[in-house]
Amino acid sequence: MNDSHPTTTIDVALGERRYPVWIGHNLLADRDRWRAMLRGRHALVISNTTVAPLYLQRVTQGLEGLEWSSFLLDDGESHKSFSNVERALQALADLGATRDACVIALGGGVVGDLAGFSAACWMRGIDFIQMPTTLLAMVDSSVGGKTGVNLPAGKNLVGAFHQPRAVVADIDTLATLPEREYSAGLAEVVKGAAIGDAPFFEWLEEHADSLLAHDTALVIEAIARKVRYKAGVVSRDETEQGERALLNWGHTFGHALETAGHYTTLLHGEGV
Ligand code: NAD
Ligand code: GLY
Repeated sequence: MNDSHPTTTIDVALGERRYPVWIGHNLLADRDRWRAMLRGRHALVISNTTVAPLYLQRVTQGLEGLEWSSFLLDDGESHKSFSNVERALQALADLGATRDACVIALGGGVVGDLAGFSAACWMRGIDFIQMPTTLLAMVDSSVGGKTGVNLPAGKNLVGAFHQPRAVVADIDTLATLPEREYSAGLAEVVKGAAIGDAPFFEWLEEHADSLLAHDTALVIEAIARKVRYKAGVVSRDETEQGERALLNWGHTFGHALETAGHYTTLLHGEGV
């Protein structure tokens, strides 16, 4: 991917509160942009064993001068578990994290959901920053503040609404994302457009081949349009009292298909 595209900023507005979603190139290494979002001297980066070797260093270079550590999950949906939340909280304790500490979620939706929930639990809620590295996480899970983990009784049964301080969507990370994961992320984009944005749906039909071919300008536009749509819904209904439930469109069947395959045959976006 070339880096000739300017960074797009979308504000998620929740009454008096708001936070930026940045979409663009080389953002993980752009510490001048995101470091200002850290208020204290402690940071815990939560990632996984696939993403960390690729991108952790870009983030930790930006943490120079702070007390920081990292906590890595094994890869996979089954690790979005309560026992790993406890481990993440222990990592915050080992760091001596205070109320102004920040959790940084570097990875896909599994990492983002667990890291956000851990941040919601530590001292009853500290800051966190989402650094999504899958297309699905960029267009959906990193935005809107739904955090949580799975129980043996079911997926996402435990969680909290806890909004991030910022979302840093560095599209260069998509270069290493397996093609199947990329397509599953596109399915979530189509879902959003199908629910409530007919012109966007038509635009997606028109540009489907180019999006599948990773045309960078179009990928940025697709992410931005989906995030803008979701930000609008979340700003009107943060805690899913009504309209936000629309974002779960297709999830009854999707989750049933995922469950029937024991979460090993279908990806989430494929199920949806
Ligand atoms: P994921 O987090 O499992 O990531 C998919 C795979 O891609 C993993 O193997 C991961 O290690 C790998 N990966 C991530 N970034 C990579 C990169 N840049 N290069 C190479 N490999 C990379 O899955 P996902 O699709 O991102 O997220 C699914 C999860 O998100 C589910 O747990 C789902 O419940 C949750 N979710 C949450 C929300 C929300 O609003 N909070 C919304 C939708 C989905
Ligand atoms: N992905 C559904 C929601 O954020 O509400």
